[in-house]
Amino acid sequence: MSVLSGKNILLGISGGIAAYKTPNIVRALIKEGADVKVVMTDAAKDFVTPLSLSTVSNNPVYSTFKSDEKDGTWNNHVELGLWCDFMIICPATANTLFKMANGNCDNLLIAVYLSCKSKVFFAPAMDLDMYKHKSTKKINCSITIF
Ligand SMILES: Cc1cc2nc3c(=O)[nH]c(=O)nc-3n(C[C@H](O)[C@H](O)[C@H](O)COP(=O)(O)O)c2cc1C
Repeated sequence: MSVLSGKNILLGISGGIAAYKTPNIVRALIKEGADVKVVMTDAAKDFVTPLSLSTVSNNPVYSTFKSDEKDGTWNNHVELGLWCDFMIICPATANTLFKMANGNCDNLLIAVYLSCKSKVFFAPAMDLDMYKHKSTKKINCSITIF
């Protein structure tokens, strides 16, 4: 049996080109027996659709704080953070890394990240010049991992 069998995994997707590969990641995790939920940024929707991700994960996809403007229902970031056995942020853009490092909580993905009590793995993904820039390196070093 896989070590991922029965695990709840939250996949955070930010808006880099590598986001187009994330349905394959979801499928691979599910094949190992995990239950996968996705939280994505608005920018990520330019590269992969919520419809694809909800279809392959067999779960709703979360991207906004409010789920319905009319009846005031909302997506509970704390519950999502507590639901998962671990979180993977992949791809993690330079912008999202900055927000993670600084607690800049202006979207649902970052709110879930800040609420998450379990381990968070993140995969910085950007052009090599962007990755090597000293600002990006500084951001990566300043993300606190508990
Ligand atoms: C075609 C295209 C590809 C991009 N790829 C990346 C990328 O690989 N990594 C990255 O850090 N930013 C990339 N960006 C820039 C991000 O989309 C932009 O910084 C965005 O604000 C990220 O928002 P988010 O972190 O909230 O998802 C790309 C932009 C475009 C238009």
